[in-house]
Amino acid sequence: MRPLVAGNWKMNGLGESLGELSALKAALAQNPPACEVLICPPATLIARAVQTVGAGPGAFAIGGQDCHARDHGAFTGDISAAMLKDAGASAVILGHSERRQSHGETDADVAAKAVAAWGAGLKAVICIGETLAQREAGTQDAVCGGQITGSVPQGATAANTVLAYEPVWAIGTGKTPTPDQIAAMHGHIRACLLARLGEGGRVIPILYGGSVKPDNAAQILNLPDVGGALVGGASLKARDFLAILAGVNQSA
Ligand code: PGA
Repeated sequence: MRPLVAGNWKMNGLGESLGELSALKAALAQNPPACEVLICPPATLIARAVQTVGAGPGAFAIGGQDCHARDHGAFTGDISAAMLKDAGASAVILGHSERRQSHGETDADVAAKAVAAWGAGLKAVICIGETLAQREAGTQDAVCGGQITGSVPQGATAANTVLAYEPVWAIGTGKTPTPDQIAAMHGHIRACLLARLGEGGRVIPILYGGSVKPDNAAQILNLPDVGGALVGGASLKARDFLAILAGVNQSA
């Protein structure tokens, strides 16, 4: 299966940032990547981003960063999965630790959103990961296993779901787990997916996220059971993101 490298722009990006997407598309047209590429800009840019990069040589996918679990209704400020799809998105990040922490999202919320995403025809990129305190207490396997049980609904397949392991302490900090720690966790996540979903759990891609940069991407992407990366800060500039994509080429 081709790896997936996804960019999460978080709450960054105005219309002028579309130039980075045009530059990315032009470079990918010249030098096709050895992976699938997905960029998740803020919701306000999705439709324009799809117009900019959605078709032609170098085209890549655009996604959202969250959706509501309901189709429509009196939920001021929220966006439904159908709305993301309507804007041209093909995927949505769900359960990112920033939303779990600052919006109080629970595993059950994330699972409900995943079902909503599937219903709208979006791929769900479901995020899990332990905090530093949990890692220091040695509970990371139990924490991530519990998040899988709670946030990944039955019905998850390689066609509709991607998992992203993002240790909270590695996000935006410049710290990454050691290669051994990443490989061990991805092996554990694979075992949890198999236990939960049966054989279908074997092929669901598991991305690594948290301070993926041009200088560590090739090593991380080459580890066993790492099916790609979820990239925050280094996805904002086409030049950095392209350097990460080049790491996939090296590891392929
Ligand atoms: P980072 O963010 O690459 O800036 O650490 C990753 C993420 O939050 O998805």
